Amino acid sequence: MASIKKVVFPVAGLGTRMLPATKVLPKEMLPVVDKPIIQYALEEAAAAGCEQFIFVTGRGKTIMEDHFDRAFELFSTLEKKRKESELRELTEGLPAAGEVIYTRQQEPRGLGHAVWCARHVVGDEPFGVMLVDDLIHSRTPCMQQLADAHARTGGNVLAIMEVPEEQTRRYGVVDPGSREDGLVEVRRLVEKPDPADAPSRLAVIGRYVLLPEIFRHLSAHQIGAGGEIQLTDAMERMIGSRPFHGLSFEGRRFDCGDKLGYLEAIIALALERPELGDGLRSILATYQR
Ligand code: UTP
Repeated sequence: MASIKKVVFPVAGLGTRMLPATKVLPKEMLPVVDKPIIQYALEEAAAAGCEQFIFVTGRGKTIMEDHFDRAFELFSTLEKKRKESELRELTEGLPAAGEVIYTRQQEPRGLGHAVWCARHVVGDEPFGVMLVDDLIHSRTPCMQQLADAHARTGGNVLAIMEVPEEQTRRYGVVDPGSREDGLVEVRRLVEKPDPADAPSRLAVIGRYVLLPEIFRHLSAHQIGAGGEIQLTDAMERMIGSRPFHGLSFEGRRFDCGDKLGYLEAIIALALERPELGDGLRSILATYQR
């Protein structure tokens, strides 16, 4: 089982699509059933063998640091009240001391800039990037699937999935070359194309394994689509010189940065919970048109 030791979580975005909920509360802290979105991402990375969780945060995001800390008063109260299972769940969800590292993106200049802010912590080794909004429910953690693919190819690997034609303008889209075992050679990446210009319907989803050379390309601070420093632009520059693949991963992805995707995630995950599934199913039945 291959692993990627360092994973970067860029969480400095403004989350404007989920306003007003995200005016004060970071979108990564919104709950899906009873866990904040960020916790699903951290658990996925941990299950994939990651040992250093690097958060690129911004103003108003310190609540995430508290979430991954020991809450002394709460823990001792739960202990006194003998609420063992609640306490166990809380402590098991915590990364070990020193495993979480926070750095700041001082202004939201784009995803590429956020990843660049982690350059000194990542150093000179392949690393993962996880966009927390993309909650992926799978048998094998999606980050593990990417790490295994990276071990085979030695290059950059992006999670990809087929999207309806009319949605290509929401994603980076792959111009596909040869295909083998779920891996698609990336010949070109097109950021948010109109359906007519899209080279395929294979969209890049928020999981990546990248070679450290990406930082050299990001250092150019080239402004791209939307006036932001785009990760896609820097990735494009590595195509041709290093192996570059998209992986059609096994699993279901929910876009929790979008209201409908967020609602779907809550319903799908709650339906799977033994203590909630039947009750929720009966409630949903009363809403059927
Ligand atoms: P999004 O495109 O989802 O932007 O960013 P956003 O600001 O988070 O949300 P909306 O679109 O305004 O609702 C993709 C990922 O990149 C991070 C975000 O936190 C998110 O995980 N990001 C984006 C940064 O860390 N810094 C940035 O400057 C931009």
